[in-house]
Amino acid sequence: MNDVRPLAVVTGATAGIGKVFCERLASRGHDLLLVARDGNRLQALKRELEQGHGVGVEVFPADLTIDTDVSLLAETLARSVNLAVLVNNAGFGTRDSLADASPARQEAMLQLHTMAPMRLTQAALPVLLKNQRGAIVNVSSVASFLFSANNVNYCATKAYLRVFSEGLAAELAGTGVRVQALCPGFTHSEFHQRMGVDVAEIPGWMWLSATSVVDTSLAALERGWPVVCVPGLRYKIVVFLLRFTPRWIIARVTGRRLRSM
Ligand SMILES: NC(=O)c1ccc[n+]([C@@H]2O[C@H](COP(=O)([O-])OP(=O)(O)OC[C@H]3O[C@@H](n4cnc5c(N)ncnc54)[C@H](OP(=O)(O)O)[C@@H]3O)[C@@H](O)[C@H]2O)c1
Repeated sequence: MNDVRPLAVVTGATAGIGKVFCERLASRGHDLLLVARDGNRLQALKRELEQGHGVGVEVFPADLTIDTDVSLLAETLARSVNLAVLVNNAGFGTRDSLADASPARQEAMLQLHTMAPMRLTQAALPVLLKNQRGAIVNVSSVASFLFSANNVNYCATKAYLRVFSEGLAAELAGTGVRVQALCPGFTHSEFHQRMGVDVAEIPGWMWLSATSVVDTSLAALERGWPVVCVPGLRYKIVVFLLRFTPRWIIARVTGRRLRSM
């Protein structure tokens, strides 16, 4: 890799929101370290980005629900003197009640959405603070403002990521290092297909494109605010209204809607 170019590390790089982050960051002259489980898709994306943008790209096949994989990636981040951007994006959803859900899958979700981003952030911080610049984007969700039947741990882990990011941003004020909790609503990607949800049941107005989500995120990072970035006016309004919505209404609406999917 070229030592002069800033390095961006993106988890969940091969699809959806993560892939668009890679494309946008490469087009802005970042070298990239691509992280996901599927080695073939990582290699294909590496070729695409190198040919399209002339930047240096390395792949890091890893399952971030596995402790040793997270440790190896954390060590790599800590050694990367040109580290400038960390995007903690890898994630997945489930749709079972907690009683019916696979315990291993639920534990994997907690690892992937909370422990992995926390450990990678801690590993990245010394480098970013030394350089007095850089950014960490934690991909949370509009779900972080909610709770939901059949989605208990998804909402809870995304709330962790959002609150974690807000606290860390306050801690890093004035250091030159920025932190963002990116909170998209429904976004076109492989997410719902992997989860087995019939996307036809979700109204068209609720969908965002992954490109608009990432462009909104990067514009907010450049501006330096807001820390909690909610792409799309419709979701800004939803999040605003949720502040005043009684919790029993949220329980009724999310319970009924998810049971019907
Ligand atoms: N799409 C939405 O509507 C939506 C809304 C709000 C928030 N989000 C959040 O946005 C983030 C990205 O989601 P997306 O919609 O872009 O999903 P996606 O298209 O399904 O992409 C998920 C990415 O994460 C990787 N990944 C999954 N499990 C992994 C693991 N155990 N270790 C390492 N990498 C893993 C996948 O690659 P491999 O399978 O090869 O590992 C893939 O690159 C997630 O955190 C999600 O919760 C999505």
